[in-house]
Amino acid sequence: MVPPRTHDPRIRLATNVDLSALMAAPWSSGLPEKHRDRFERQVRGETAYLLAEVDGAIIGHLLLKWDGPSDEPVRSLLPPCVEIEDFVVELELRSRGIGAMLLAHAAKMTRERGLTRLGLAVGIGNTRARSLYERSGFTAADIPEFDVRWQYRAPDGSLRWEGERCIYMVKVLV
Ligand SMILES: CC(C)(COP(=O)(O)OP(=O)(O)OC[C@H]1O[C@@H](n2cnc3c(N)ncnc32)[C@H](O)[C@@H]1OP(=O)(O)O)[C@@H](O)C(=O)NCCC(=O)NCCS
Repeated sequence: MVPPRTHDPRIRLATNVDLSALMAAPWSSGLPEKHRDRFERQVRGETAYLLAEVDGAIIGHLLLKWDGPSDEPVRSLLPPCVEIEDFVVELELRSRGIGAMLLAHAAKMTRERGLTRLGLAVGIGNTRARSLYERSGFTAADIPEFDVRWQYRAPDGSLRWEGERCIYMVKVLV
C-alpha cells in the first residue's frame, strides 16, 4: 500500500534532475518528451516550469510562457500577456488547493518581472478548472472560441491527437 503523503506541497522551478520523474509521471498528459522541451526553454529564459512537490514526489506542473500565446487567433486578438500552459495536478491529489498554489506562484513570478497580465486557454467543457480560474480572478476574454489540439502517447506507444474547443481567460495582476 502507498503510504499517505504528509507534508505541505512546495512549489519550485524544475531542474534537469526532475526530467526522468516527469517523463514517467502517469498523471502528466501529452508527450513525455515535452518535459525536456519545457525545461530547455526555461534554461533559455523563455519559460518558468513550475512543479508542485510533496514529500519528494512531483505531483503537479504548470508552464509559464513569458512571451505569451504563440498560437493564433489568440496572439493577434489579445493584448500581450504571460501564458499558462500544461497545468495539471495528479488525479488523487486534486481539490486540496495545490492547483491554486501553482496559480498563485505563477502570478507572483509574473508580478516580480513587472508584468501584469496572465492568460490561459480552457476547454469549454472543463467547468471545474474554469471555476478554479474564476475563483482565482480570471475572467473570459472577449474573443471567439477556438480549437486547441495536442499530441499524446497512448499506453500502446502509438502517437494520438486530442483536441478541445476553448475559451481564453485573463487575469489582470494588481
Ligand atoms: C485544474 C487542476 C490543475 C486544478 O488542480 P487542483 O489541485 O485540483 O486545484 P485546487 O484544489 O486548487 O482547486 C480545485 C478547484 O478547482 C476546481 N477543479 C478543477 N478541476 C477539478 C477536478 N478534476 N476535481 C476537483 N476539482 C476541480 C474545483 O472548483 C475545485 O474546487 P473545490 O476543490 O473547492 O471543489 C486539476 O483539476 C487538473 O489537473 N485537472 C486536469 C487537467 C486540467 O484540466 N488542467 C487545466 C487545463 S486549462
